[in-house]
Amino acid sequence: KICDLGVIGLGTMGAMLSLNFAENGSDVALFNRTPEKAEKLRAYNPGLGERLHPQASIEDLVAALRAPRVIVLMVEAGPAVDAQLEAMMHLLDEGDVVIDAGNSDFNDTVARNRRWDPTGIHFVGMGVSGGELGARHGPSIMVGGDRKVWGRLQPLLEPIAAEYEGSPCVAWLGPDGAGHFVKTIHNGIEYADMQMIAEIYGIMRDGLNLSAAAMARIFADWNRRGLSSYLVEITAIVLAERDPRTREALVDVIIDEAGQKGTGRWSVIAAQRLGVGATTLEAAVSARTISALRHERLATGEIYGNLDCRQAGFENSSEGIGELEAALEAAKIVAYAQGYAALAAASRQFGWNLPLGEIARIWRAGCIIRSVFLQDIARAFDEGRSVVNLLQEPYFTGRMKATQQALRRVVVKAVEAGIPVPALSASLAYFDDYRRTRGCANLIQAQRDLFGAHTFRRLDAHGAHHHQWPAD
Ligand code: 6PG
Repeated sequence: KICDLGVIGLGTMGAMLSLNFAENGSDVALFNRTPEKAEKLRAYNPGLGERLHPQASIEDLVAALRAPRVIVLMVEAGPAVDAQLEAMMHLLDEGDVVIDAGNSDFNDTVARNRRWDPTGIHFVGMGVSGGELGARHGPSIMVGGDRKVWGRLQPLLEPIAAEYEGSPCVAWLGPDGAGHFVKTIHNGIEYADMQMIAEIYGIMRDGLNLSAAAMARIFADWNRRGLSSYLVEITAIVLAERDPRTREALVDVIIDEAGQKGTGRWSVIAAQRLGVGATTLEAAVSARTISALRHERLATGEIYGNLDCRQAGFENSSEGIGELEAALEAAKIVAYAQGYAALAAASRQFGWNLPLGEIARIWRAGCIIRSVFLQDIARAFDEGRSVVNLLQEPYFTGRMKATQQALRRVVVKAVEAGIPVPALSASLAYFDDYRRTRGCANLIQAQRDLFGAHTFRRLDAHGAHHHQWPAD
């Protein structure tokens, strides 16, 4: 049987994507380092078995494909990708397409594009979001690489992607690293969303002494309004879940150390390199890092003791809970404004011409950060004005005006009570900084001029000035 495409790497994501391709009518050649995995995938999915074609070697996989070939790599990001590419390169012909669908560092993707360019074999870096379920039933797909091959990939990818009101959540976003870069920023925003939700949970738990079940009801309620999103939805599900062992809330027995595989960190490193302050994203990544120092935190807690968080002034009333909801919305708008600022900066710096509205559209379904909110972002870009920062867009301006006081009150109360809210407060500080018409960097400029003759600009005259400081 001549196959439509090949999938190499049948871990969870590779396996689920293969099933998704097969279900949507593609014949898929499969290869995994341990070949039994491919056989098992076919055996366990009898309905799709006819379209799944396990291969004993990469050579066999390449030989099984219709030319020009399309091969999807779903192996661990990093050296494993290069190892697979090296093993395959000499088997491929001009016009073939190799898609790296893992969470690769976009810098690696740029380098791989450069290396593959002269061969005439197309290398495509593709971000896939939505976890296991998304990969199986419809992920959001962010494609980067040579525009010329998009026409060939579209009929393969559109059927497997998530759909939002009939449009597939997949798009070609730009050359070389564009797809993986956009996925990286998606993950930075994912970290920020998750951290801010966790901080609100921390306030409800420590400041209001609410049970997990009560919090589950609140998040479920929020999920019916402006904050409606996959992450708020699963938060309600998580909080409602009971531990089969203790019959208590499962979340209460889970250790408070968060893992991370690196993409969140890459997003803030990339933002810094681009000269974009993504402070909420940074706070979220750092909070995960600090969460992992559980033993150090336990020791430090012994030294300093804990504040009584219930004195914080949070209220378990509909106004009090509404204030938390509004605070989360305000902080979220700021986080997305930062993520979008990083996308816009990368677009300029790398000449990618990223379609920012389209990115919001393909994030509306399938991916981890999917939400109704992304529809509002898409709309802001669709209106045709050039968007400097989402915080200046009329819709978001209105929402910020309605919610920023709540964020301020929540942060103040949390800070007073010693409940850490690093991401919420980073959002508030960014907002306050960004709208401050007379900042305090005039002092920094003066200091720089004093110790390094770096010069400063004046409000009342043009040009660069240097002052003869007394210490000179
Ligand atoms: C997605 C996710 C996914 C990511 C996980 C794990 O969009 O489906 O972003 O790609 O790998 O969320 O990331 P961490 O282990 O770093 O939390």
